[in-house]
Amino acid sequence: MKVLIVGSGGREHAIALKIAESPKVDKIYCAPGNAGIAQVAECVLIGAMEFEKLADFAQEKGIDLTVIGMDEPLVGGIVDVFQERGLRIFGPRKDTAIIEGSKVFSKDLMKKYGIPTGAYETFSDADAAIKYLETSTYPIVVKADGLALGKGALICNSFEEARDAVRTLMLDKQFGSSGDRVVIEEFLTGREVSVLCFCDGTTIKTMASAQDHKRAKDGDQGLNTGGMGNFSPTPFYTKEVDEFCKKYVYQPTMDAMKKEGRDFKGILFVGLILTPSGPKVLEYNARFGDPETQVVLPRMKNDIVEVFEACIDGKLDAVDLQFEDNAAVCVILASDGYPEKYEKGFAITGLDAFDGKDGYFCFHAGTKFDEAGKIVTNGGRVLGVTALGRDLKEARANAYRATEWVSFENKYMRHDIGKAIDEA
Ligand code: GLY
Repeated sequence: MKVLIVGSGGREHAIALKIAESPKVDKIYCAPGNAGIAQVAECVLIGAMEFEKLADFAQEKGIDLTVIGMDEPLVGGIVDVFQERGLRIFGPRKDTAIIEGSKVFSKDLMKKYGIPTGAYETFSDADAAIKYLETSTYPIVVKADGLALGKGALICNSFEEARDAVRTLMLDKQFGSSGDRVVIEEFLTGREVSVLCFCDGTTIKTMASAQDHKRAKDGDQGLNTGGMGNFSPTPFYTKEVDEFCKKYVYQPTMDAMKKEGRDFKGILFVGLILTPSGPKVLEYNARFGDPETQVVLPRMKNDIVEVFEACIDGKLDAVDLQFEDNAAVCVILASDGYPEKYEKGFAITGLDAFDGKDGYFCFHAGTKFDEAGKIVTNGGRVLGVTALGRDLKEARANAYRATEWVSFENKYMRHDIGKAIDEA
């Protein structure tokens, strides 16, 4: 089989390595990819939003399966374009990816079908939103309706902060039309857990749980980022929580989407918060998480290509999803200054230390080849160093040891990824 992956981050590198394990696969392409993905796939210089060019490429090369990593092409309708051309693709159609593309849609869906989530109101008028905030209790969360690079949910501790958040999103249009509407939501407290699920439109099967660390600095301080590291499984996602979510969240979400005429095929990423009054949904995404994928896929026993095909063909009920009884920790090596201003173009050394070492992975995110063919930094999040261990403590020690193998100027990381494990 020939497989095309669309995306260029650590998530797509992890997907590419997992696909490469499949005996069914002879050739992998990735558009546009990065310097790490280039070691396992042929990278193609086509942008993730160039749907027609990507479909032309898939047709010319006789691609048997296309897998989308990123949110933007899914929300933009890449699956529809491929399917109209008779090309096989893994992911939800545009009318279904809206579960991530519109917070108003997803909150209204949960309300309509009784799926546990925080109380909320939606607004398409900034003055009405601000008036509502005058009598709200704080903290409160103001969320842009549409995609916002993971930065569209603002936790506000006072009326002034919330009013400014509404102005930034709705009037200053920090994220363009994504701020045409906002959701104002109750602030929930508890442990956050990410659960990625395979879906075939009817059946939904969960992968191992993971816990992300979104803030830039140790102790969950600093600005929100795309994720500074994570671990899997999380001890807070107990058997009881899993049973509750299977009964009241995952299958009800699948069924709700089906009833709305939007059969969900692809990955449903459920962002949960374990509140004192039970698990609630913080958000849905219609794709693999980044960096959740980097700790979940290395633990998966199945041939992922078989699972992708089962989802597309509506045969997921016949798949026995299995994960190793071990643990994984991923520490992001970032460019100092991320998520704000940072420099790039620095040479990365030590990458070959990972060669031949079972249980250690160096997933590339912001990397590229320079003119001399050397791998250099090319983004805020540069590498995701992942290690397996018999348990989370061992995986954590292994991952932090491996972060020392790699060097580049301005290397920055958090030192407390998975620290909650020790406190559990
Ligand atoms: N790690 C969070 C996300 O992928 O959206």
